[in-house]
Amino acid sequence: MYGPQQESAPRPAAPKKITVPNVVSSKGQQPLVMLTAYDASSARIVDQAGVDLILVGDSLGMVVLGYEDTLKVTLDDMIRHSAAVRRTGPRALLVVDMPYLSYHTGARDAVLAGGRLVREGGAEAVKLEGGRKRLPVISALLDAEIPVMGHLGLTPQSLNAMGGYRVQGRAMAEIDTLVADARALCDAGIFALVLEGVPSDVAAMISSQVSVPTIGIGAGVGCDGQVLVYHDLLGLFDGPAPKFVKTYATLGKQAVAAVSAFAEEVRARAFPTPKQSYRLPRDVGDALARRN
Ligand code: KIV
Repeated sequence: MYGPQQESAPRPAAPKKITVPNVVSSKGQQPLVMLTAYDASSARIVDQAGVDLILVGDSLGMVVLGYEDTLKVTLDDMIRHSAAVRRTGPRALLVVDMPYLSYHTGARDAVLAGGRLVREGGAEAVKLEGGRKRLPVISALLDAEIPVMGHLGLTPQSLNAMGGYRVQGRAMAEIDTLVADARALCDAGIFALVLEGVPSDVAAMISSQVSVPTIGIGAGVGCDGQVLVYHDLLGLFDGPAPKFVKTYATLGKQAVAAVSAFAEEVRARAFPTPKQSYRLPRDVGDALARRN
């Protein structure tokens, strides 16, 4: 086991790049794992962990840019962050959110915005929020060869219209609307569907009725995959977490402790030590000492 490596030992095959058709054909197989990432450092971590899809979500407005909601995020914001993720060459499929007002004004605007996300941001697919009223926009994006992921249920860009972040699909009429929207989006050609803030039974029912994988967030275990926000999963986001968040680490607290230790050592002149400092060559040091 510890001997020298044989020269002819085959290298482990590089894991294969995940594509839109891979995602579509995963329905009924292993659950899909999607996580947000917003820059090169988070993308490297998420991709090394082996997720299937990276979402450059417009949640970056809150967790990265410090806004209260996603409505202020611009197309240029999304392109800049997506391009940073793209530069890391992820194996995971790179999906990028179309921000508020980049597709609400019509199909032509949507294609121009989606095209910029692909061309300048390196997106391999885009995600947009809303049901049947988005069908013309979805068709136009698909005509432009841009794969589309749908997003139904609690759609944060409709914050004001919904009157807050509320679980959707609790009443029969709402359930019927959700089911009809999900079916229509799938018929139009979306390759996957995010279901957010929907009772588990409803999400499981929709998942069993549509041909594309559903990816849930606050939608129970009956979806074909799950997505979380990077900062929530790692405990990096200050403030009350929604019920559906599971925090797998407390990196925020660890980071505050580490920075506090640094501050304490700087103030006590305990950092840097000789280990973190550069030395002069001995002859230059001696000459300098003689001169002083
Ligand atoms: O913006 C985002 O992070 C999202 C996920 C919560 C699905 O849309």
